Amino acid sequence: MKVLFCVSEAVPFAKTGGLADVAGALPAALRRGGLDVRVVMPLYRGIARDGLEPVLTVERPVGGRTIAGAVRRGTMPNGTPVYFVDAPELYDRPGLYGEGGRDYDDNLARFAFFCQAAVAVRRDAWTPDVVHCHDWQAALVAAYLRWERDPLPTMFTVHNLAYQGLFPAAQFELTGLPGAAFAMDGLEFYGQVNVMKAGLVWAHVLSTVSETYAREIQSPEYGMGLDGLLRVRAADLFGVLNGVDYSQWDPTVDVHLPARYGPDDLGGKARCKAALQREVGLPEHAYAPLVGAVARLVSQKGFDLVTAALEGIAAMGVQLVLLGTGDPSLEAAFRAAAARWPQQVAVTIGFDEGLAHRIEAGADMFLMPSRFEPSGLNQLYSLRYGTVPVVRRTGGLADSIVDVTPETLQRGTANGFVFDAYTPEALLATLGRAVAAYRDPGLWRFLQQVGMRADFSWDRAAGRYRDLYALTAERAARWR
Ligand code: ADP
Ligand code: GLC
Repeated sequence: MKVLFCVSEAVPFAKTGGLADVAGALPAALRRGGLDVRVVMPLYRGIARDGLEPVLTVERPVGGRTIAGAVRRGTMPNGTPVYFVDAPELYDRPGLYGEGGRDYDDNLARFAFFCQAAVAVRRDAWTPDVVHCHDWQAALVAAYLRWERDPLPTMFTVHNLAYQGLFPAAQFELTGLPGAAFAMDGLEFYGQVNVMKAGLVWAHVLSTVSETYAREIQSPEYGMGLDGLLRVRAADLFGVLNGVDYSQWDPTVDVHLPARYGPDDLGGKARCKAALQREVGLPEHAYAPLVGAVARLVSQKGFDLVTAALEGIAAMGVQLVLLGTGDPSLEAAFRAAAARWPQQVAVTIGFDEGLAHRIEAGADMFLMPSRFEPSGLNQLYSLRYGTVPVVRRTGGLADSIVDVTPETLQRGTANGFVFDAYTPEALLATLGRAVAAYRDPGLWRFLQQVGMRADFSWDRAAGRYRDLYALTAERAARWR
């Protein structure tokens, strides 16, 4: 089966979050399973052009002008073929979606062109059996196919319902779609253009990145205004938890670490902890519980709970190492915390792949207090690094982290600490439980072992996607 994977970011070429990790690893896992998967993504600034082979030109009117671009073929280091959509006026910029905290104001034109080029990739003498589109940036593919009466089976995966691609109605013409597509059962959404709706309405099969999130988004609380539509499509909506690329995220092979380690010998983890404390400027205390956090600092991730709980966290005697960037007020709050508790709180504002790995390895616990979390990858990485997750019970966190209770300990499934209420008190109480467990080396070692031996490899999820592609082809044949 041939699958075209349409996505706006992929490791190692471009990354703002977990979507890039998924797009870098899932196609390779599917290929190992015998599928012919190719990725199509924009050619952003910073992606090396050497060795890319031009395979076709794409010229499309977008609004009042004609954009001339090319599609160039390359390969990922893991062997997955990649089609890069090259249109420098759209993609040769410092950011992927924006700069300095502001989205580019021509994002609709940028991703409308990208989707039209993705549809055109078939002219490279390779016709996919299924197109798999990810998030709003790739959603218009489903619209173009639908309005061209093209029966190509299409699957759409929601990685985050919070980013829907909303634009003023006046920009609708940039899509090049007929006016009839701007309707309630199309792209219209409370008077605006909602690009994600193209995927949700016209893809034959829908999925999201955990089973719990697939249920949650059908409720008004998590549905971001789209829960009604998602309930209508409930029979076509599936949840598949993300996996981990263990060639990149495993302390036995991780190239970013000062020392390697595995479940049978955790000596290297102690060295990683000391090195991390030195790197971020905290006192080198081997027995101070070190809490790590790496995240986009946006409301989704729940760091307002952490800032509200800082006094209590400091009083527990833990060290906190945070790496993140995003909301300027959260960045400022954490900078202030680092200034107030220099012996306990270390904050790095920015995006740093290497430091993200070293925090996974050097920390004792990993904090993810998310308000919502479609899948989450860092809790899965943490498990493999023997870093015990402390998480809120939502989305993919609920589907991967099993709270420590007498029963789960007895069953041998406990692998972290979980809280329910979105309050600083619940966060503090749960972090308190984790710190108490850390003081019990036998228990702590047990939790680390359960996590490190768990298997969240992509090969499991790839099997599920394979079934969903078959279903997509079946549903598309019936839609005709
Ligand atoms: P999301 O996609 O919502 O950001 P995920 O948990 O799925 O959340 O994935 C986040 C990915 O982005 C992880 O690989 C994480 O290490 C990485 N990441 C997030 N923020 C940073 C940062 N400031 N520096 C380096 N890596 C980061
Ligand atoms: C989104 C979600 C995150 C998920 C990632 C990859 O960014 O916020 O939970 O892991 O996509 O699917």
